[in-house]
Amino acid sequence: MRHEITVRVNGVSETHTVADNQTLLSFLRDTLDLTGAKEGCNEGECGACIVLVDHKAVNSCLMLAVEADGHEVTTIEGLGSPDELHPLQAALLHHSAVQCGFCTPGMILTAVALLHQNPSPTEAEIRAAWPATCAAAPATARSSTPSARRRSRFAPRPAPRGACGDATASPARTRRGGSGTRAGARGLEEPAMSDRLYVGRGFPRVDGLEKVTGAARYTADLKFPRLLHAAVVRSPHPHARVLDVRLEDALAVPGVRAAVSGRDFPFHTGIYLKDQTVFAIDRVRFVGDPVAAVAAETPEAAAEAAARVQVDYEPLPRSTTPRPASPRARRWSTPISASTRSCRGSRRRPARTSATT
Ligand code: FES
Repeated sequence: MRHEITVRVNGVSETHTVADNQTLLSFLRDTLDLTGAKEGCNEGECGACIVLVDHKAVNSCLMLAVEADGHEVTTIEGLGSPDELHPLQAALLHHSAVQCGFCTPGMILTAVALLHQNPSPTEAEIRAAWPATCAAAPATARSSTPSARRRSRFAPRPAPRGACGDATASPARTRRGGSGTRAGARGLEEPAMSDRLYVGRGFPRVDGLEKVTGAARYTADLKFPRLLHAAVVRSPHPHARVLDVRLEDALAVPGVRAAVSGRDFPFHTGIYLKDQTVFAIDRVRFVGDPVAAVAAETPEAAAEAAARVQVDYEPLPRSTTPRPASPRARRWSTPISASTRSCRGSRRRPARTSATT
């Protein structure tokens, strides 16, 4: 079933028809092309998808788009711009508190929500509020070093000597946060070509601005004409014989372009040793071992088709401790291939003719 919703996103009223099971994250990323919110775990654990709904931090992967009807949503794209950073964006940039940047938008918006509720949080409250599994946590922790705390928990460091602009907001204004407060400056560019004296000076990461504004593009953010979406079918067994893989029902799903299994790739591959298969051919060796994959025009069609792939398994003994997996206990070891060969350095090492798992 589909519903018409009206959501105010970054100050703009958006009216769209959405499926009743479409998440707010999908609505923002796929419908509105606001890719600053990221899909990490998709189950409320990582915080990469956090946006503000009526000034509260919300995991948008856990909220349906229809639930946002009539509400106000703020994404990282609506918080500040490269020319007018929010103080928290400026602070993270100054402290280089971004690593890969994937969860940086969620961290910033969480901090904005925290300051909206509590303008003077303690360090414990700050640490408790930030998403637990953010990959940038170690870098962000640098912002809480004693020297940083002496300046202010969220205050940007003074702009590097030689850097232009007035990137430093006053600590009082910075602490207040809120979408109406701005650092009011770019002022974070690298030193000019004639003044490239980096040693002993602070300067922003070259990719920091993209990351604190949500403009950084990751693989899932890229869109191409006629892009297809893949879904992989994985083994639920740690060790099993694959008796049959049937793809007919998956191929019948509208929008599915292809479905493949190990039968389509009857060879071994590998970087150093050709001891791997693209998909399990005759048996799976761990939970999650890929068995088949589908490609479809939409992620939903790909997911539905993957669910319709039928695999017959014959469960086999499994090893859950090192001892039965040791060389002397390979009771049910599996020769991978008599033709397995060393791919690199084969002249220096004797070619390996077989391997076991
Ligand atoms: S993607 Fe929503 S919490 Fe991880």
